[in-house]
Amino acid sequence: MKICLILAKSNHKGKWLIGDGEKLPWRVPEDLKRFSELTRGNAVIMGSGTWRSIGSKPLRGRENIVLSRSDSEFEGARRAKSIEEAFEICQSLGCKKAFVIGGAAPFAQALPFAQEAFVTEIAGRFSGSVFAPNLSISSSWRESEKGGWKKSRVGKRGYRFLKFTRRKTNNNN
Ligand SMILES: NC(=O)c1ccc[n+]([C@@H]2O[C@H](COP(=O)([O-])OP(=O)(O)OC[C@H]3O[C@@H](n4cnc5c(N)ncnc54)[C@H](OP(=O)(O)O)[C@@H]3O)[C@@H](O)[C@H]2O)c1
Repeated sequence: MKICLILAKSNHKGKWLIGDGEKLPWRVPEDLKRFSELTRGNAVIMGSGTWRSIGSKPLRGRENIVLSRSDSEFEGARRAKSIEEAFEICQSLGCKKAFVIGGAAPFAQALPFAQEAFVTEIAGRFSGSVFAPNLSISSSWRESEKGGWKKSRVGKRGYRFLKFTRRKTNNNN
């Protein structure tokens, strides 16, 4: 099973900003469309904060796994108490790909296991306090694809699609 990260980020003082409270700091429908295309038919793994941020409803056409240490039920999704348990559930369901879709801790915890990261870079400055690991400064990752800048149909916000691939080394960080 392949483990991938998928996220949208803006650059924020050398860090990758991904969220503001429980909301995304931007609205770029083209990013959501790509997210849907890439993840459909696969498993998505998310923290309980991200689950709430998407309306506490499962993403259709995907196996939804919510990370939580609580005993809460997540209707339409399975609960896992650790990232390892989430991966085990995906394996047992026969998933070929598992996408970790946020937020901060799930991205950081999944990083040593992930082979690919699908990243949307959003132009501009935003405020927020939720960050993902910055793969462009990690020696374990290389930018393997870089799309050109495009303008969103909403507010003409600039965005581009990037892909990062884990380097083939023994270093697993
Ligand atoms: N830009 C993007 O691509 C993107 C993607 C996703 C989310 N976001 C943004 O990120 C924010 C939400 O992220 P967040 O970091 O605040 O919250 P989060 O990671 O989605 O959720 C945090 C919660 O997840 C559970 N959790 C996390 N790691 C766990 C583990 N290893 N084992 C068991 N449970 C675990 C815990 O839930 P319990 O408290 O229930 O135990 C924890 O309180 C929102 O602003 C959202 O819009 C952005």
